[in-house]
Amino acid sequence: MREDAYMVFCHKVKQLIGIDLTAYKDRQMKRRLGTFMLRLGVNDYLELAELIEKDREALDKFRNFLTINVSEFFRNAEQFEILKEKILPTFIDSNKSLRIWSAGCSDGSEPYTLVIILEELGVKNYELLASDIDFEILQRAKMGVYKQDSLRNVPPALLGKYFLKGEDELYQFLPSYTKKVKFFQHDLLKDRYERNLDLILCRNVVIYFTEEAKTRVFTKMSESLRQEGVLFVGGTESILAPKKLGLQTVYPFFYRKTGEPEIVAL
Ligand SMILES: C[S@@+](CC[C@H](N)C(=O)[O-])C[C@H]1O[C@@H](n2cnc3c(N)ncnc32)[C@H](O)[C@@H]1O
Repeated sequence: MREDAYMVFCHKVKQLIGIDLTAYKDRQMKRRLGTFMLRLGVNDYLELAELIEKDREALDKFRNFLTINVSEFFRNAEQFEILKEKILPTFIDSNKSLRIWSAGCSDGSEPYTLVIILEELGVKNYELLASDIDFEILQRAKMGVYKQDSLRNVPPALLGKYFLKGEDELYQFLPSYTKKVKFFQHDLLKDRYERNLDLILCRNVVIYFTEEAKTRVFTKMSESLRQEGVLFVGGTESILAPKKLGLQTVYPFFYRKTGEPEIVAL
């Protein structure tokens, strides 16, 4: 009965906000939903389905809750150091424009970190795409306004160069740099992927997906990379059998495309 109720709930969520909960880890999702229901004083999945269908505010709360948006500039700074010192210089030699995609970009901290790094490396030609499933967080990302705690890893000299300090301890990422990023809404589980990319960042996103969904996403990302392109994943999202996806580990959390995926992602 409980399982049926959960499937009815998943169906309702798909209908209302287009998110496929069955592609997210079951136990983890149910535990989180339990916390959410407790917070709202809701007793079971069917009651929650009814509430989010009728109450717009509850639906918004639910969407925000689902799409955990935690992010910060230079998240896991040592990995961005590898990106800057070891990975990007291998691309910059070629004269053509770099194509980069930050997938699951949340509030923009990640793609803007890339802007800082590319500018600091003196890269002139780059196309920087950034996407997220969550429309509201993308609006915030476009504004580029951050609290100080998102910026704790930004070296002071770069803080002064790329941000304007406003009131209430808020920092504005300079508009001349925000416009370097093209933001768009994209669901990794159902939308079409871009092609011919040099670098993809997909960090702290698939952590919530089932193994099957995670493999599907990474396979599609491999297909999206050009040969020798690089996929940069999060600290808990290592790929166990990269070769099967046409990838080769170059540093922990960095995979270079050297072949083609053995499986076809649908
Ligand atoms: C924890 S944030 C990661 C932000 C950034 N990549 C980082 O590492 O700091 C996870 C983001 O993944 C997004 N997300 C969750 N499911 C997604 C999906 N199916 N397609 C695209 N984005 C998704 C969420 O909306 C959220 O903004």
